[in-house]
Amino acid sequence: MTDLLTLIKSRQSDRAYDTNRPVEQEKLDYILEAARLAPSACNAQPWTFVVVNDPALRRQMASAVSDMGLNHFSYQAPVLIVLVQEAPNFTSKAGGWIKQKHYPDTDMGIAAAHMTLAATEQGLGSCIVGWFDEKQVRSLLGIPSSKRPLLIITLGYSTQPARPKKRKELSEVVVYNAYKTKTR
Ligand SMILES: Cc1cc2nc3c(=O)[nH]c(=O)nc-3n(C[C@H](O)[C@H](O)[C@H](O)COP(=O)(O)O)c2cc1C
Repeated sequence: MTDLLTLIKSRQSDRAYDTNRPVEQEKLDYILEAARLAPSACNAQPWTFVVVNDPALRRQMASAVSDMGLNHFSYQAPVLIVLVQEAPNFTSKAGGWIKQKHYPDTDMGIAAAHMTLAATEQGLGSCIVGWFDEKQVRSLLGIPSSKRPLLIITLGYSTQPARPKKRKELSEVVVYNAYKTKTR
């Protein structure tokens, strides 16, 4: 059993995968279950997870993800999961209108976090990808204009070594009891 902070520290954006090693269906199911159980505003669960593992479609999808020369590593990933944003339920939408917040964006980020942590726990590498040709992704997967493919997760067995995390210090991002202007 890995403790949560150890798991969080070992998750990283993996941008190279073993192209000869597929992702086992049980592991994929585990990752999808972790995403299904994610919290969302008003429990709206405003998502559909489109799993792309068909080799021919994967290649076409990788071409859409390698947008403007970025994210070329997506060609190596044996599985891509597209997080499609659905319309939220009435309460999430009404709450968002009143408070001027688009809750589904936050919801999708949490689902992506669940997926990537579950992938790490299963010994898989992953990367959250937000830069891709949305029009092409819509067309390849038949996503109507009323829905939005917001994020794509690449999944596979990573061939990258573990990297130390580059993060701001706690003292730079945490204050107690009042918001203060940072001195640095
Ligand atoms: C919403 C979002 C979008 C991202 N989009 C991309 C992307 O398009 N391509 C990419 O290589 N990494 C992408 N990343 C990964 C970040 O670059 C990465 O999480 C960050 O640099 C921290 O590194 P780490 O994940 O290895 O800890 C994205 C991450 C998030 C959360």
